[in-house]
Amino acid sequence: MLEVAIVSGSAFGAAEEVARHAEAQLCAAGLEARHLPRTGLDALLALDPQALLVVTSTTGMGEVPDDLQALLDEIDGVQPDWRGRPLAVIGLGDSCYGENFCAAALQAHMQLLALGMRDLLSQLQLDASETVTPAEDAEPWLERLAVQLLALR
Ligand SMILES: Cc1cc2nc3c(=O)[nH]c(=O)nc-3n(C[C@H](O)[C@H](O)[C@H](O)COP(=O)(O)O)c2cc1C
Repeated sequence: MLEVAIVSGSAFGAAEEVARHAEAQLCAAGLEARHLPRTGLDALLALDPQALLVVTSTTGMGEVPDDLQALLDEIDGVQPDWRGRPLAVIGLGDSCYGENFCAAALQAHMQLLALGMRDLLSQLQLDASETVTPAEDAEPWLERLAVQLLALR
């Protein structure tokens, strides 16, 4: 059983870097957190994560990066019983894409909530038009997430 699994969707590496940073910060807070880049559903289910953190950018015109889309498709097919398990989502995007801003994070978020997962925090959205240091900018939000997760023990 893994306390927190971190999955990422990334076209050019920024979201993966934020996910790695999140892993380090949650572990430093005393949680057992593991970033699983490009994981399949079987590997994820084998770890039986008690909570899920999704970190994804948006690519194309509002699309989920391929690595995460493959996992979301598997989740859609299998419908794992994650009812009640805590969920948190970080979206990386660029507000110059207008209504497609962070569309992938919103789509992943909706899909996982539809499984019955439980939102722990409102989605963090990191806008590439406003910041070039998304990993550092995520720190205060990750600190709140760590507090919430530790309180569940
Ligand atoms: C080809 C391309 C398409 C993009 N499309 C969107 C989009 O539809 N919506 C959005 O919010 N951001 C969009 N972005 C911005 C990226 O999501 C943002 O730069 C992000 O930080 C990239 O993270 P990554 O390196 O993990 O892919 C796009 C960027 C590129 C290069």
